[in-house]
Amino acid sequence: MNTPVSIKDAIHTRHSIRRFLPAPVAADTVREILDLAARAPSGTNVQPWKVYALAGPEKEALGRAITEKYLASGFEKTDFDYYPKEWVEPWLSRRRKVGADLYALLGIVKGDKERMTGQWIRNYRFFDAPVGLIFTIDRIFGSGMLLDYGMFLENLMLAARAFGLDTCPQAAFSDFQNTIRQTLGLPENERVICGMALGYAEPEAPENQLITERVPAREFTDFRGFAQ
Ligand SMILES: Cc1cc2nc3c(=O)[nH]c(=O)nc-3n(C[C@H](O)[C@H](O)[C@H](O)COP(=O)(O)O)c2cc1C
Repeated sequence: MNTPVSIKDAIHTRHSIRRFLPAPVAADTVREILDLAARAPSGTNVQPWKVYALAGPEKEALGRAITEKYLASGFEKTDFDYYPKEWVEPWLSRRRKVGADLYALLGIVKGDKERMTGQWIRNYRFFDAPVGLIFTIDRIFGSGMLLDYGMFLENLMLAARAFGLDTCPQAAFSDFQNTIRQTLGLPENERVICGMALGYAEPEAPENQLITERVPAREFTDFRGFAQ
């Protein structure tokens, strides 16, 4: 994807990327992006983020450990509920659409469990991005601090665009608290909230052609008191 020049471009050119080129990203670049991301506001400036930036064998070891665990016994029990236990409309249809659109681009037909699993476990290899990020938060924080964390994560993804880099935020990692704790040696007080792939997009890859829809502001905003 092209390097954007404005904040509007950064927002418009950020898409979740699920296939990356093998080109490495220097630690200094990752550090610069994280420093920019950390300009995000947070309540009383607590800056609740903690990041594990993984590359090379460290990233591969985590991917292997989670993939093995998933294939042997499925998801781990997690105390971080990112998704609801039961889905209702309109969220369910939106969720189904993005999955169906992604599989259609990849030519994966409904019921082809082998290919669906194959695509799903690519999450754990950070979609072969050269950098894998794991984000944790101190367990003392409740859901409020996740607002601050979200701002940090969006800053990170937009800052990455300024370097011609792309990302995919990944809740898939929050299902593997124990495996990540053991592999990375996380302290007990840290909870994994998500991961993120970071690298250079493979521009021609079918899965990277997915441009998701958005409900326009006029549909989700109740404008009141405006002159026009
Ligand atoms: C917190 C968060 C977690 C996500 N987790 C995953 C994931 O585990 N795997 C994945 O392929 N995409 C994941 N996504 C990407 C979403 O599917 C994507 O953001 C959404 O469909 C909108 O598409 P866009 O990012 O291309 O605009 C996640 C996005 C967010 C914000």
